[in-house]
Amino acid sequence: MPDERFSEDGGADEQADAFRADVLAGLSAPIPAIPARWLYDRAGSELFDAITRLETYYPTRTETALLETIMPEVRALIPRGAAVVEFGAGSATKTPLLLRAIDPAAYVPVDISGDYLEQSAARLAADFPGLPVLPVTADFVRPFDLPGDIDDLPRLGFFPGSTIGNFVPRSATDLLRHFRELLGTGSRLLIGMDRVKPVERLIAAYDDPGGVTARFNLNLATRINRELGGTIPVDAFRHEARWNDILSRIEMHLVAQRDVEFAVAGQHFDFRAGSSIHSENSHKYGARGARVLLLAGGWTPLAEWTDPARDFAVILAEAQPNRFAP
Ligand code: AVJ
Repeated sequence: MPDERFSEDGGADEQADAFRADVLAGLSAPIPAIPARWLYDRAGSELFDAITRLETYYPTRTETALLETIMPEVRALIPRGAAVVEFGAGSATKTPLLLRAIDPAAYVPVDISGDYLEQSAARLAADFPGLPVLPVTADFVRPFDLPGDIDDLPRLGFFPGSTIGNFVPRSATDLLRHFRELLGTGSRLLIGMDRVKPVERLIAAYDDPGGVTARFNLNLATRINRELGGTIPVDAFRHEARWNDILSRIEMHLVAQRDVEFAVAGQHFDFRAGSSIHSENSHKYGARGARVLLLAGGWTPLAEWTDPARDFAVILAEAQPNRFAP
């Protein structure tokens, strides 16, 4: 059932309203925090792209190489003629690897950004002549409908990039259950999850020496100023990447370097020196933790692969029918 608050095409007005509401609520909260999805405007998406090419940012490189090696095995474990439903618009490098290997009957990229989606859908349609590409503009954390064309096909969900790590486990579980409802019993899910590793490597990946991640994080403040009539003194904030060990996650914060006052959409805010706006979580999982998360979300792991250094995992899981008893 489509959410009433969003028009069919994820309209720009609805987006602007949602952004304003999230920022105002987030800045007013006892622990100021803004949902990570707002980091990805055009500039933010370009900066994230630059991050994926950094020496210190291991996830993209590692997952891509891993996907490349495991595709023959993945192919053997999924039904022929499946529809691939990708959550988040197809990445230029990972998606073609999957499509080439499994030769699906349809490809359904789902993304909140209509522009970005149309671009990547057009590129993939050109590279895979004969493959029906059926883009859906939707926020994949909210209810939405799949195109009727794939009603009778087996489904493979594709959720690479460790995007699941952006969600706190409770929301990650909700999201996995939502994917299960959407794709249906018997469907498969191929998901990338980043692993726990020594804190020095994690910090280096999220606070690179060249400052690209810092620019990515600070761009959120710039975006708020531009789109919401904000007066945030961006240069008064500093990027910080923190490892939260008990919650097993990297946190990105924008930390005030001095006492600051500013307005956003006519509302006034004060931040004391040293206080922060929490802008992203990136949860890291151990092998068993990753599988428990999937099981809690209704997905039974079938196979799991990691790179030789065990930095990153790709898991194939199945939405098995509910059982009355173990
Ligand atoms: C796109 C969410 C997978 O958490 O590693 C990279 C985002 N933030 N550097 C991640 C990100 C800072 C990235 N994900």
